Amino acid sequence: MGDFQLYADRAARRGADREPLILGIESSCDETCAAVIRGRELLSNAVISSAAEQAKYGGVVPELASRAHTDAVSAVVSGALAQAGVRGEQLSAVAVTYGAGLLGALLVGLSFAKAYAFALGLPLIAVDHIRGHMAAAYLADTSLEPPFVTLLASGGHTAVLYTKSYTEFEILGSTRDDAAGEAFDKVARILGLPYPGGPSVERLAREGRAVIPLPKMFAGGGYDFSYSGLKTAVLNYCHNREQRGESYSRADVAASFQSAACGVLVSRAVAAAREKGCDTVAAGGGVIANGYLRDLLAKRCGEAGLRLVLPEKKFCTDNAAMIAAEGLVQYRAGNFAPLTLNACAHIPLGRKGKQ
Ligand code: KG4
Ligand code: ZN
Repeated sequence: MGDFQLYADRAARRGADREPLILGIESSCDETCAAVIRGRELLSNAVISSAAEQAKYGGVVPELASRAHTDAVSAVVSGALAQAGVRGEQLSAVAVTYGAGLLGALLVGLSFAKAYAFALGLPLIAVDHIRGHMAAAYLADTSLEPPFVTLLASGGHTAVLYTKSYTEFEILGSTRDDAAGEAFDKVARILGLPYPGGPSVERLAREGRAVIPLPKMFAGGGYDFSYSGLKTAVLNYCHNREQRGESYSRADVAASFQSAACGVLVSRAVAAAREKGCDTVAAGGGVIANGYLRDLLAKRCGEAGLRLVLPEKKFCTDNAAMIAAEGLVQYRAGNFAPLTLNACAHIPLGRKGKQ
């Protein structure tokens, strides 16, 4: 919570403008998050994570996640408001993740947000979690304006999108099977690495070299991805070696997988920007926290003369700043939700806002 003084100082300077002041609340998985923004300026960002507890079970246990959110939500929201130097009555709206995610987990943040908005007479905004990941870029570069190409790589979705306007996007390509984050998590399990899988694979890959030949990612036309073949190739490589009693470097497997998994994301994003005549690539989602991928994106976008908007790592993984950012988009579009708003476990990418 070291950034809070900075955020509070910024908040103290407020008053001159009339930018909307939005509280974001996020509880779709194992992180209870709240954040306050004024316009596109981040005033506070609070997170209480149950990931360490969940790691004992090798993944997220939904019941534990719901209970952890129940314990944390009140403190996280109070903390975010206090650190922003904002009282609830000053808010313009409350934006909350209504899906996709674990139902029981979502319901905790959603019920809290509804009660809070009702008590203070504030408008409620329903945010699709994945659109939140995409909107994180608006806080990373407050001058960012559509159109641009978005590379989305998360635990549930992997896609290259053409962001036409703040509220409309076109899916240029998406995964035909596993999402990139899911593939990282599965490869982590194959390699016996601890939850959460993505960061574990990244750490191990630093000790290895990308020397193991793995099949090329989906080589068909367009911008679609396929991760299941790559994951199966990793599984087969490890099993075959083990069955033959041959040793192999797990670090080399991690580095080879990471190189293949990230290379295709970068190529597709750069190609899409060229085709669309966009000068900017924005990125979002948990996999974008991967250091190897970030470096490769910076290198390839630089070579292609593209501007890259990359949220800080902590704003790529789950956070409420991104929920507030998408809340601002919906606020400006006048999309408010009723107090009957319910949680939704699955939301297809591209579904028009529920609001
Ligand atoms: O974007 P996210 O919150 O998922 C969805 O909203 O669906 O991100 C979680 C995913 C997990 O699959 C996790 O393994 C992956 O992001 N991830 C990473 C890294 N950090 C998180 N993958 C690769 N490298 C990382 N450093
Ligand atoms: Zn997420």
